[in-house]
Amino acid sequence: MPCRFGRGLGMAPRVWIGLLLGLLMAAALFPCSVVEAAGKGGIPALWVFGDSTVDTGNQNYITSLVKSNYPPYGKDFVPPGPTGRFCNGKVANDFLADYLEIPRPVNFLAPEAKGSRILTGVNFASSGSGYLDITGALFGVLNLTRQLDNFGKIKKDMIDQIGDAATEKILTTSLYLISTGSNDYVNSYNLNPILQGRFTQPQYEQLLLSTIETNLKTLHGYGARRVYINSLSPIGCVPEQLNLYNVKDGACIEKVNGPLRSFNNGLQGLLGKLRQELPDYDLNYINVYDTLYGAITTPEKYGFKYGNMACCGEGSYNGQPCISPLSTVCANADEYVFWDLFHPTQKTYGMLTDNIISGTGLAVYPKNVQTLLATLQEGN
Ligand SMILES: *[C@@H]1O[C@H](CO)[C@@H](O)[C@H](O)[C@H]1NC(C)=O
Repeated sequence: MPCRFGRGLGMAPRVWIGLLLGLLMAAALFPCSVVEAAGKGGIPALWVFGDSTVDTGNQNYITSLVKSNYPPYGKDFVPPGPTGRFCNGKVANDFLADYLEIPRPVNFLAPEAKGSRILTGVNFASSGSGYLDITGALFGVLNLTRQLDNFGKIKKDMIDQIGDAATEKILTTSLYLISTGSNDYVNSYNLNPILQGRFTQPQYEQLLLSTIETNLKTLHGYGARRVYINSLSPIGCVPEQLNLYNVKDGACIEKVNGPLRSFNNGLQGLLGKLRQELPDYDLNYINVYDTLYGAITTPEKYGFKYGNMACCGEGSYNGQPCISPLSTVCANADEYVFWDLFHPTQKTYGMLTDNIISGTGLAVYPKNVQTLLATLQEGN
């Protein structure tokens, strides 16, 4: 049972002393503190940054070429219908918020993103964006610098509402999810001879990593302490790439995947370095790459029927955009790892979120969410 005493206790001194004592006794009996309404482990909020893998509809509010606000997107959502998610249903941050028993983060650009609704977390993500601000610039996205600036605006708003101390408390005890980076490769560097001329592959990787270092420090400066950050996915295996490179046998494209694995190694190194530099910064690496690679190449082991063929799309592997009514749409998206040319199905996101929550070994390093919650219960 989550604690839900809420902030109403601020009025306690004005009520009958017996009631106050009763409340204090109740508070002592329940294993969580009487501060703010919060979810599991007292985690009050989830803050989300990144691209279409975590965008839950910000893109609906901006003029952009990258959109998913039309059927059949959202066909398995509750209630059914397009939401701006690039998925048939829920994405990882939805699953994570549901697990934590907190409201799903409100979209920064949505009219509801104000008042007390922002205190339980905001989603700043923007489809088509990347770690670099130039990625997706032509599509009209909220780049990552802008996403962090918007977080700063939200923080100011929180301080106005509840003051410095309460804001600090929320921001330091919240979870942060960052999921981006694929677009920096497949929709930018890999297609752009000018960028390739300016940066070798290792130089480009360094550029991304130094950008991430700066952004993670900015986030720490705002108060973030518990961060989960996705590795890059094996994009060399997605329907769009198999179709683009005219792959006949369904095999993943190693020349695409190689640099992504190299980046992932670099990211783990960077997080290790930052953990030493900032010992109070709980930075967790989510190994999306290996889990997704496993599901794509051996779907039956993961409870899927189709690994590299999208549920909705056109052409080989359904590797062209999912646009109704031109595209074919499968009957049961749960049989597919991929919903459209780039993006996982709800079932795949559920599996990836299980990894964040309870993944063992190197699936999420150093700490899955259950381990974090266990340390919180010990009073750390
Ligand atoms: C990133 O977004 C900000 C705010 O919209 C904009 O001023 C800046 O030019 C963008 N950066 C790039 C490289 O497009």
